[in-house]
Amino acid sequence: MTQTIALGATGITMSAQGAGTWQWGDRRVWGYGGAYAQDEVAAAYAASRNAGITFFDTAEIYGSGVSETLLGAFVRADPERERLVIATKYAPLPARLTSQAVARALDASLKRLGMERVDLYQVHWPYSLIRLDTLMSALADQVHAGKVRAVGVSNYSARAMRRTHELLARRGVPLASNQVHYSLLHRQPEWNGVLAACRELNVRLIAYSPLEQGILTGKFHTDAAGARLPLLRRLQSGYGAAKLRATLPLIEALRVIGVAHDGKTPAQVALNWLMRQGALPIPGAKNAAQAAANAGALGWELSDEEVVRLSKFDIR
Ligand SMILES: NC(=O)c1ccc[n+]([C@@H]2O[C@H](COP(=O)([O-])OP(=O)(O)OC[C@H]3O[C@@H](n4cnc5c(N)ncnc54)[C@H](OP(=O)(O)O)[C@@H]3O)[C@@H](O)[C@H]2O)c1
Repeated sequence: MTQTIALGATGITMSAQGAGTWQWGDRRVWGYGGAYAQDEVAAAYAASRNAGITFFDTAEIYGSGVSETLLGAFVRADPERERLVIATKYAPLPARLTSQAVARALDASLKRLGMERVDLYQVHWPYSLIRLDTLMSALADQVHAGKVRAVGVSNYSARAMRRTHELLARRGVPLASNQVHYSLLHRQPEWNGVLAACRELNVRLIAYSPLEQGILTGKFHTDAAGARLPLLRRLQSGYGAAKLRATLPLIEALRVIGVAHDGKTPAQVALNWLMRQGALPIPGAKNAAQAAANAGALGWELSDEEVVRLSKFDIR
């Protein structure tokens, strides 16, 4: 039986872990269309669903809309569509200056998804030329129009989140979530106030890059020089050989703890640790094997002592 959690104060519930879908259609960072393509991501969707995952996260910019199109097709063919919680994101691009621009972007996302309503509509990042009150009012309008079930934000600071929470509350809409970078190798939400604000305001923290883009699987640690980390990811993440080596003790601790839980992998232990913080991790998978492995983080729990032991590794 998969654990379920609440999406803040919205009344929506979903599996305690979700699935990210940036990989589904993105060529530049993830190489979609090369070593993996539509068949592999369809199998990743099926494997996630078989393992009880009911929350899927996409964005209008992932693969320039391809991720939404693929996810929409998988969901529409799913016999249990009604149980699923589908999230997408609005990109606050500089040219989008009015509430009509929000409505047009949402309509385009819904068209690609092939849906009349999306469960969670998130603002992808906080930098926007639209005033925050205009933006939140435009989003609340879409909730009242029935095209959006819940509103979330992403990459918002604790302060911006509090302001957003207040603006939406004036329109009778609870802020559902703040999706931020959070993993055992990226602990910023703990010290920048975002995790505390989420707990205080009953806003779900959705943890992106929960495996630190694959580093927490331990698969890049087999080569001490770190040469196996793909170049683009090395540049993007800043994980050169020395920084990667510094994470080895954490990977070892994840391995040891995993062994004590019937052979859980470092990745599964790292995802379970995030759930124990109250976060909803959304690991991205390119294929069925990765999706099934990630879902193995569900259905068991780290002990309090293990959570504390892992939390002590604060590598910056
Ligand atoms: N809101 C935002 O600004 C934002 C930003 C980033 C991501 N996101 C969301 O968060 C999701 C997850 O973040 P992410 O994709 O950056 O990072 P992630 O989930 O930490 O890492 C995903 C990558 O790790 C590798 N991987 C995943 N599972 C694995 C497994 N079981 N075994 C071995 N390798 C595995 C795969 O890459 P390889 O096979 O190539 O190693 C995969 O593409 C995204 O899909 C997206 O929905 C949101």
